[in-house]
Amino acid sequence: MALRLPLCFLPRPPASLVAAAATLLQRRHLASGVESQGAGAGVFCKRFVLARHFKGEPKPSDFSLVTEELPPIKDGEVLAEAEFLSLDPYMRVYVLRRPPGGTMIGGQVARVLESKSPDYKVGDHVVGDFGWRTHTVFNPEAHEHTLMRTYKLPDIGGLSPSLGLGVLGMPGNTAYFGLLEVCRPVKGETVVVSGAAGAVGSIVGQIAKIKGCRVVGFAGSDEKVKWLTEELGFDAAYNYKTTRPRDALKDGAPKGVDCYFDNVGGELSSSVINRMNYGGRVAVCGSISSYNADGLPKATIIQPAVVTNELKIEGFLVTRWNDRWGEGILQNLKWIQDGKLKYEETVTKGFENMPSALVGMLRGDNTGKAVVKV
Ligand SMILES: NC(=O)c1ccc[n+]([C@@H]2O[C@H](COP(=O)([O-])OP(=O)(O)OC[C@H]3O[C@@H](n4cnc5c(N)ncnc54)[C@H](OP(=O)(O)O)[C@@H]3O)[C@@H](O)[C@H]2O)c1
Repeated sequence: MALRLPLCFLPRPPASLVAAAATLLQRRHLASGVESQGAGAGVFCKRFVLARHFKGEPKPSDFSLVTEELPPIKDGEVLAEAEFLSLDPYMRVYVLRRPPGGTMIGGQVARVLESKSPDYKVGDHVVGDFGWRTHTVFNPEAHEHTLMRTYKLPDIGGLSPSLGLGVLGMPGNTAYFGLLEVCRPVKGETVVVSGAAGAVGSIVGQIAKIKGCRVVGFAGSDEKVKWLTEELGFDAAYNYKTTRPRDALKDGAPKGVDCYFDNVGGELSSSVINRMNYGGRVAVCGSISSYNADGLPKATIIQPAVVTNELKIEGFLVTRWNDRWGEGILQNLKWIQDGKLKYEETVTKGFENMPSALVGMLRGDNTGKAVVKV
């Protein structure tokens, strides 16, 4: 499958890279005239601007909503209208390294309204790192250094295009490659996943089941725990807010833990790593337990367990597999079509609700992938 590839989803990218991306993004918008006012095409765009940097949990007042008229598109350009916008934990940390005043970062699935590019036709769905905005003018040939390169959503057989932001997009590929290439689970092994009821974690656990593993999940509510075991086929799941991880693992992973897919970091992860078997593998995907914290929280040390059990701990960014992006999407699609992979979306309606939906996702309001439908 010919797919244009996302460039990077860095939960904690180097400041220099982010600054460069911010500058280039601004330049791109200026170059394409998107930020300029009143060229008179009659298409009005709403966008959220980051008014100030977050302190602790983001607040709706950290954003301001502006409306502007877009200019007519030029040769080679495309005008697209957002249908679904993504809410991702990386936004919370990533945006801190950009100056306030710019459009809030984020991916979206948009529908082409008008095209002067031979590669895009009206009605095509496009996955792009356009930020929190309802309409975007972009040039597919410009290869701008945005957080994610723009690509056409592949044929997903009549499923909702919103899945291009979830199981059939970046989070699905994070689960697929992170589990299979970093943890490398073997049939019969025990796999633990934290953040298990979220966009990435819910797919990780199901792929581990497909590979014949025992799967144990940690999530933040009894409803999520029930969903994991009763709907998704996890062997065991626990509410980390009400169950001591040590007790949960004694119960759910009686033979110890061979693979740990870590979405959250912190004390929960220390508990899991301290219960791993010899030769265990840890895929460090994220550390959402620290994203709203000021400074880096402390947790129990893991080095004694890492040494004595010769554990392998590896952080990764999904962009490592940019050249295999289509493979992940197609495999997850096939598993969905074969009835082996389920997905859930928590859909907030209304573009104006982006800020509160971001706060909600960080608090754990979502089951599966959090998106906003414009
Ligand atoms: N390395 C990469 O390339 C890459 C790519 C994508 C995502 N990620 C990372 O993967 C992780 C999951 O991302 P996602 O998109 O799938 O998000 P998600 O799990 O769909 O949503 C975030 C979830 O985090 C949980 N959470 C919030 N505060 C927590 C805390 N203090 N302790 C434990 N859990 C907490 C909440 O669920 P509960 O109700 O269970 O608390 C919430 O629903 C994040 O760390 C993200 O940064 C990394």
